[in-house]
Amino acid sequence: MPLITTKAMFKKAHEGQFAIGAFNVNNMEIVQGITSAAAELQSPVILQCSAGARKYANHQYLVHLVRAALEVNDIPIALHLDHGPDFATCKSCIDGGFTSVMFDGSHYPFEENIEKTKEVVEYAHAHGVMVEAELGQLAGVEDDVSVDADKAHYTKPEEVVEFVSKTGCDSLAIAIGTSHGAFKFTPEQCTRNPETGVLEPPELRFDILAEIEKQIPGFPIVLHGASSVIPKYVKIINEHGGKLKDAVGIPEDQLRKAAKSAVCKINIDSDLRLAMTAGIREHFDQFPEHFDPRQYLTPARNYIKELVAHKIKNVLGSEGSAAAIMAIA
Ligand code: G3H
Ligand code: 13P
Ligand code: ZN
Repeated sequence: MPLITTKAMFKKAHEGQFAIGAFNVNNMEIVQGITSAAAELQSPVILQCSAGARKYANHQYLVHLVRAALEVNDIPIALHLDHGPDFATCKSCIDGGFTSVMFDGSHYPFEENIEKTKEVVEYAHAHGVMVEAELGQLAGVEDDVSVDADKAHYTKPEEVVEFVSKTGCDSLAIAIGTSHGAFKFTPEQCTRNPETGVLEPPELRFDILAEIEKQIPGFPIVLHGASSVIPKYVKIINEHGGKLKDAVGIPEDQLRKAAKSAVCKINIDSDLRLAMTAGIREHFDQFPEHFDPRQYLTPARNYIKELVAHKIKNVLGSEGSAAAIMAIA
């Protein structure tokens, strides 16, 4: 089937109290790992590309990799621009085959965010494309997305009705304590579990989420910065030459709870990076004489597949929902 928008996905996710995984893609092995897991579990999936991914891989390669995944796997897939920085980037993705774009105006003052988001919404809707907008600011550092912790702030529930109605956006990313990257909390912000030795971060602000839900009932909410930084992959990386001390993510029980609420889309990138790096490091440690990329990218792709299957089953709850979404898309 062709690429679909996120509309049918969010409708079914809301009705079924699950969330759609939005996974960042940068190359072929990542696309293959994600979509083969989703196909085995008959789950819908959103494949998203950041501005950095487009710079790295080139727009055309990404679009054609995703189209190839659609030919190979019979599942609903949406292609989404992650953190679109401006109208021009959003337009280029809308014109170039994406079915959904995010315009990230979260760093602008409220009125300016509305104005700029609205401009993207008008163009996108005229072309049948959905728009995700953002209110509130997450902390964290990625290549092209960087916000200091002291500049981050939670979404204000009293602003969401005005924002959503004035912009006409189709989904809203909110800030309730998640953040980008593999180091979401400092050790000082966490408590160390005396039995497991694992650092446990503070709870997400479910009170703010509940208040937002009350203001805009049934409206699709998006959680960015939602990697759980799975200890298994961090451990493999550190045991094979890596240095990722005190990497901390969002506990999976909290993400599961969010997926059962108005949160319809959960963004995951850092966990993919960790899984892929774990596969490569482990392989090179075991086989230092290898230099064929197919040798070390095979375990990397396998770990991505394993990770995505785990997320679909245990965090997102989207397993088995592909057919119902395809029927109404
Ligand atoms: O939220 C940001 C994503 O993890 C994308 O990161 O800009 O380094 O591709 P990137
Ligand atoms: P993570 O860094 O937690 O994976 O978040 C990814 C994200 O929000 C992409 O937009
Ligand atoms: Zn993000």
